Amino acid sequence: MSRLRSRGDPVATANLAASSAVVVDGSHPQQAVAVFAVGSEVDLHALIGGLHRMLQAAQCDALDAGRVVTAASELGHNILRYAGRGQITVRIGSLGARPVCELVAEDRGPGIADVDRALQDHFSTGAGLGLGLPGVRRLMDTFDLESQPGAGTRVVVRRWL
Ligand SMILES: Nc1ncnc2c1ncn2[C@@H]1O[C@H](COP(=O)(O)OP(=O)(O)OP(=O)(O)O)[C@@H](O)[C@H]1O
Ligand SMILES: [Mg+2]
Repeated sequence: MSRLRSRGDPVATANLAASSAVVVDGSHPQQAVAVFAVGSEVDLHALIGGLHRMLQAAQCDALDAGRVVTAASELGHNILRYAGRGQITVRIGSLGARPVCELVAEDRGPGIADVDRALQDHFSTGAGLGLGLPGVRRLMDTFDLESQPGAGTRVVVRRWL
C-alpha cells in the first residue's frame, strides 16, 4: 500500500497522526455531514452545488469555500475518470476547538501504483494536465492519500475554516 501524508503545519500533522476524527454536532446550525455518490457528471454537479451550500451555511468565507469546492471537484473528477464510481463524504465540524471542513474521497477502482509520481505536477496516466492531485494538496491544509493497486484509493483532506 502506498501512503503519503503532507507535512503540513505541526498542529494538522499531530491531529492526523493521532487519527483524530472530525466531530460534527448535528444540533449546531453551522455543522453538517453529507455523503455524495460519484458516478456521473450529474453527480459531480450535485456535489459541487451541495458542498457550496454547506459551506455558505457554515458562513465560510468565499476564498476558503472556493478552495474546498475546487478540491472536491478535482477529487470527484478523478473518481469518475479513473475508478468510474465512488463517493465523497463532507464533514463541516470541529477538530479540537478549530472549525474545519473535511473531504474523504473513496473508490474501489484500480488504485495508484506510484503515489509519489501521481503527486508530481504534470504526471498523468489519463491525458490530463496532471495538476489535480498536486493542486488539491496545495489548496488544502492537510492531505492524506492511501492507495492499493487493484483495491482502490482514499484521499482525506482538511481545510481549517
Ligand atoms: N482515484 C484514482 N484512482 C486511480 N488513479 C488515480 C486516481 N486519482 C488520480 N489517479 C492517478 O493519479 C494521476 C494524477 O492525478 P491528477 O488528478 O493529478 O492528474 P490527472 O487527473 O491525470 O489530470 P488533471 O486532474 O490535471 O486533469 C492520474 O493521472 C492517475 O494516474
Ligand atoms: Mg485529475
